[in-house]
Amino acid sequence: MTHDHDHDHDRTVKPMVDEVTDFEVLEIALRELCIEKGIFTAEDHRRFTEFSEQIGPTPAANLVARAWLDPDFKQLALTEPMTASKEVGVDWLEPTGFGTPSDFTAFEILEDTATLHHVIVCALCSCYPRPILGNSPEWYRTPNYRRRLVRWPRQVLAEFGLYLPDDIEVRVQDSNQKHRYMVMPLRPEGTDGWTEQQLAEIVTRDCLIGVALPKPGVTSNVIVDTRPAVHP
Ligand SMILES: [Fe+2]
Repeated sequence: MTHDHDHDHDRTVKPMVDEVTDFEVLEIALRELCIEKGIFTAEDHRRFTEFSEQIGPTPAANLVARAWLDPDFKQLALTEPMTASKEVGVDWLEPTGFGTPSDFTAFEILEDTATLHHVIVCALCSCYPRPILGNSPEWYRTPNYRRRLVRWPRQVLAEFGLYLPDDIEVRVQDSNQKHRYMVMPLRPEGTDGWTEQQLAEIVTRDCLIGVALPKPGVTSNVIVDTRPAVHP
């Protein structure tokens, strides 16, 4: 079989990466400079990246489930969130356990009530309680979510499938470099007699951000894939 070279120009090779953003270029430049200056090694960077990629929201879900079952622990979570985090295996001051400096500043757990619902955002960039929730979902970092949530929270929550009645106040908590938050949702109906493990399974990442409410039978997040908005 002969190969038709005349049509080679019609072939398009898909790029490995769709687009490298300015921030990614900046990160690479800064990282390479730090390695060159001996601030950290490439091995340190690899180790930390692997560590940060394996963190998931499980410790945070365990924390909420335990707080639902144990009023004393709930009080601890609300007043000394770092101590409570340690009890579910997260040390904010030394998250990796192998000496990588922490970027810890302040952490607060926001308690929902029957009349108050919290949702977190970082309007400025993408600050997120990573040591306890892992890396943020892609949509959390989009300008669409960040700038629209602070203006039209009920509309944005409705886009996630969360419709809140008017008598529930919605409080949007803006994170920043110094303050990280997570939401402690209300324990839902229909969970009487459940174990801590059963309860933790319905406390999804989205519930901890505040774009979903825990529900018996729902153990996965609302939005799995993010599509760019047509008219963001
Ligand atoms: Fe930020």
